[in-house]
Amino acid sequence: MVQGVIVRRVQARDLEQINGIAHAMLREEYSLELFTHLFERAGGSFMAALIGDSVIGFVLSVPLTSRTMRILMLAVSEENQSRGIGKMLLEACKNHSVSRMMNEIVLEVGVDNEKAVEFYSRNGFSVVSRIKEYYNDRTDAYVMKCYLPM
Ligand SMILES: CC(C)(COP(=O)(O)OP(=O)(O)OC[C@H]1O[C@@H](n2cnc3c(N)ncnc32)[C@H](O)[C@@H]1OP(=O)(O)O)[C@@H](O)C(=O)NCCC(=O)NCCS
Repeated sequence: MVQGVIVRRVQARDLEQINGIAHAMLREEYSLELFTHLFERAGGSFMAALIGDSVIGFVLSVPLTSRTMRILMLAVSEENQSRGIGKMLLEACKNHSVSRMMNEIVLEVGVDNEKAVEFYSRNGFSVVSRIKEYYNDRTDAYVMKCYLPM
């Protein structure tokens, strides 16, 4: 827990702020329309970290199989990084996945995104493979995996 920060399911009024964080922090371009579409489908696997009404980070995951959750996006606004917010969001995603009887989480992360690779490694993930030219800018991605307690 980080003082003053709550993590809860995303609400429609959060989407504009989430789109702003994604635009500032993520490699690929997304749109408000896409987040609205994902919001309507993702339910409890779309979560935001907030201070008051201000969204400071979010995590979006989708089931890949009945046993595997896949994190599509995880981002914390620049000024709120390195305070444990990413870890809070990841814990919320892990708890949600365990509650759905899933036993692993997978994700892709840019091989040049050292902070994120380090962050995931410290939080139970290991690199399992590499995908060549995964991103639009042709950067490779690592596939990272975390096994969940049964
Ligand atoms: C990767 C990312 C989500 C991590 O989020 P974060 O909120 O910075 O993560 P945390 O604070 O939980 O952990 C990161 C660091 O904070 C430290 N930390 C954790 N809790 C802390 C606390 N309570 N107080 C101070 N530092 C803390 C950790 O030790 C870690 O180490 P560091 O000092 O080397 O930075 C964030 O950097 C980000 O949004 N990056 C851009 C988007 C991105 O690359 N997403 C991942 C690809 S999908």
